[in-house]
Amino acid sequence: LVIVLDFGGQYNQLIARRVRECNVYCEVHPYTLSLDKIREMNPKGIIFTGGPNSVYGEDSPRCPKEIFEMGIPILGICYGSQLMSYMLGGSVKTAPVSEYGKTEVAVDTESALFKNVSPSTICWMSHTDYIEKAPENFKITAHTPVCPVAGMENAEKKLYAVQFHPEVMHTQEGTKMLSNFVYDICGCTGDWKMDSFVETTIRQIREKVGDGKVLCALSGGVDSSVAAVLLSKAVGKQLTCVFVDHGLLRKNEGDEVEAVFGPDGQYDLNFIRVNAQERFYSKLAGVSDPEKKRKIIGEEFIRVFEEEAKKIGAVDFLVQGTIYPDVIESGLGKSAVIKSHHNVGGLPDCVDFKEIIEPLRLLFKDEVRRAGLELGIPEYLVYRQPFPGPGLGVRIVGEVTPEKVRIVQDADAIYREELAKAGCDKGLGQFFAALTNMRSVGVMGDERTYDYAVALRAVITSDFMTAEAAEIPFDVLFKVMTRVINEVKGVNRVLYDLTSKPPGTIELE
Ligand code: XMP
Repeated sequence: LVIVLDFGGQYNQLIARRVRECNVYCEVHPYTLSLDKIREMNPKGIIFTGGPNSVYGEDSPRCPKEIFEMGIPILGICYGSQLMSYMLGGSVKTAPVSEYGKTEVAVDTESALFKNVSPSTICWMSHTDYIEKAPENFKITAHTPVCPVAGMENAEKKLYAVQFHPEVMHTQEGTKMLSNFVYDICGCTGDWKMDSFVETTIRQIREKVGDGKVLCALSGGVDSSVAAVLLSKAVGKQLTCVFVDHGLLRKNEGDEVEAVFGPDGQYDLNFIRVNAQERFYSKLAGVSDPEKKRKIIGEEFIRVFEEEAKKIGAVDFLVQGTIYPDVIESGLGKSAVIKSHHNVGGLPDCVDFKEIIEPLRLLFKDEVRRAGLELGIPEYLVYRQPFPGPGLGVRIVGEVTPEKVRIVQDADAIYREELAKAGCDKGLGQFFAALTNMRSVGVMGDERTYDYAVALRAVITSDFMTAEAAEIPFDVLFKVMTRVINEVKGVNRVLYDLTSKPPGTIELE
């Protein structure tokens, strides 16, 4: 185990992730973690993160000086390096020139940290303070023209520090430096794999839950599925999963979720499927305003879940599939409300429980997927593209009716099937069919038609904040158009949505 002590920097989880990529288990903890707790956890190494403060500020986060005497190797990064220097008697000041971005750094390749690193290497800098003078018994191991101590070490005490950020991609040899730290300096063996995460997490959950009752809102998305399976492996039938089918899922999705998690599936848990389709449709009847639709779906979801939870009675734990990017996003605060997002974030208030369990809180999406595969969850579920909480409700422009749901489900199923067949679904962030609220005139056979237009959308995105329409080969689109018009009653026109985000959003509402 390597512990990352969090001093408030932006890249903290990224450090943990890089360490895990070296097959060494790593957890992030707040800088206030006590020395007793650290002793108990018995880490092979500690990494201090960056942070926004100045070490000489009165309220700046510090660590007890004894931490440097525990014999545990420490790597300080950015603020962490300045803190190490400051606590051990070096001096830290506002730099006359701050450095930001890719910077050429001269490193001492004799240092264990820089083994096999080029003597002059591009690193990512982002600092306004710098170490002016290293503490006594520290050797300077890296510098730039304006930063005299870009790296320092006391090899005997296994204390290492760098001003730059080895964890970010722009530090070209950062991974090498981190692996030097964890293997050569900390002596980690690198035999940790996702299965160890899975095993450890299951054990921890079992200890925590004891003989308590656990409730989980299962959506069938990868995060809640992986969380549910971890819980099921840990406590079996003490777990009840409630799956609300709001009638706005993709074609056959409800049955697919039931096949995996229901009584005929492979997991040991209580599965409750609530078929609330009619309820949602009747609440949505006559409503065409996108925000109102979102609110109705979100609120109704909570009501349905609440009723089920009441039937089960008080539970000890509520499971949430929160993953690390959700944690950052919810911390971002005050951006304008473009859309009121619906996900299970609204649940806790309506359920009688003592504590939340979030087993995936530290993982990135691709790590969650690896854990899912490790747990034997079917691949199509693990690699399922993100699906919004309000489901097809935001892919049907205007009023939602069962008829429109059928149209969009069928068109979407054809689109997905054809993209997969042509092998062009790889690399797409999201792709789906949506139903515009537009009807137009056409001719089929010798008859006039007056039917809906389906919009096909496929976007490339890495963070879902910005996106671009993907270039789907015309022959594939043509095939989809032909099939949709022939096979889906009520459609006489197929459009391809070319809009980027911004100005468009990914979903239509
Ligand atoms: P937009 O349409 O805002 O979508 O560009 C960005 C990403 O968010 C998903 N999305 C949602 N996810 N609840 C969710 O859990 C929601 O209410 C919601 N609305 C949009 C959307 O699918 C895309 O991945």
